[in-house]
Amino acid sequence: MTDFNGLAPEFLQSVRGKRVLVRSDLNVPLDGTRITDDGRIRASVPTIKALADAGARVVVTAHLGRPKGEPDPAYSLAPVAARLGDLLGAPVAFAGDTVGASAQETVAALADGQVALLENVRFNPGETSKDDAERGAFADQLAALADAFVSDGFGVVHRKQASVYDVAQRLPHAMGGLVAAEVAVLRRLTVDPERPYVVVLGGSKVSDKLGVIDNLLGKADKLLIGGGMVFTFLKADGHEVGKSLLEEDQLDTVRAYRARAEELGVEIVLPTDIVVADSFGDQASARVVAADAIPADSLGLDIGPESGAAFAAALADARTVFWNGPMGVFEQPAFAEGTRAVAEALTKVDGLSVVGGGDSAAAVRTLGFDEAAFGHISTGGGASLEYLEGKELPGITVLED
Ligand code: 3PG
Repeated sequence: MTDFNGLAPEFLQSVRGKRVLVRSDLNVPLDGTRITDDGRIRASVPTIKALADAGARVVVTAHLGRPKGEPDPAYSLAPVAARLGDLLGAPVAFAGDTVGASAQETVAALADGQVALLENVRFNPGETSKDDAERGAFADQLAALADAFVSDGFGVVHRKQASVYDVAQRLPHAMGGLVAAEVAVLRRLTVDPERPYVVVLGGSKVSDKLGVIDNLLGKADKLLIGGGMVFTFLKADGHEVGKSLLEEDQLDTVRAYRARAEELGVEIVLPTDIVVADSFGDQASARVVAADAIPADSLGLDIGPESGAAFAAALADARTVFWNGPMGVFEQPAFAEGTRAVAEALTKVDGLSVVGGGDSAAAVRTLGFDEAAFGHISTGGGASLEYLEGKELPGITVLED
């Protein structure tokens, strides 16, 4: 039995006075030291708070970005510690290293119910090492800081890394509430989804989505394609795409998807109009053209208004929706309307609507939508895609041992 945090009550009852290491995903976008979207920090709060309220000495470990296995101030978690403290309504002690003297002193100074955050776990090369022994040695040091481990970083459960995987083999462990909630929702997208089931895919590259398209073609009723990846689809259909993003090496794969979709009776919906510009980000030159008439000297940066309306119509009667990847360069107003149209349509879905992590989750918040209007906004980009691809996620299987 689990309580509302997803943590088993018997686990929560056992943590008073214990040091509990929590792996959270606090990988948030930063502009300098300013956090531009704190969604992942907010999503991590309930598990941390539940443990602190239960009297644990909570030691949070997390990564930020992809530093090169050594300290780099640009990737410090210090701003995140401050924001986490604000959200918890209690100070969060910040250790200036991952497992060294500062981490050890910070953990030793914790009283029951207090929270510390360790510096970016990827400042240590052992975290992401492919060498089991090197990763294991670092996991030993992390495990020495705690009596138990809670895995709550859904965004990293697809990574076989020391703080996600190896540490769980070294300490009594539990699945955190966020991971439990994410898995429960993603399960509903793969096991007997309510129909019609519509999948919306965007983002820049087809090659990032191959596995998910492969798997979802057999499950979804409709696949709506936008974002940079759409130009490889348009080209595969024989249209010119000008200077738009194109993955020539994926054209055959895309043609094979088209053929398979037809066999399976899955409708692939492509945009019929495109917002193009003379160069990347040149909002002044933005204009709408037909998707089969993209001028040679321009590039597509968003789906057009007719396509936005068509996508919204295709979503109107859906009972299950999964959306991953923006429809255009939503950070710039001239190329944000396609993404807005899809987000808006998702808020009206009568059923389960899931926004799958990373850029689409940030887009929803950046465009000012109320998060509560969506069924679920996943904190995992790569992790939710790998789950939907049907891959085994090391950070989850290790908890089942
Ligand atoms: C993410 O941003 O998807 C997660 O935090 C994982 O980050 P990673 O791709 O650098 O492992």
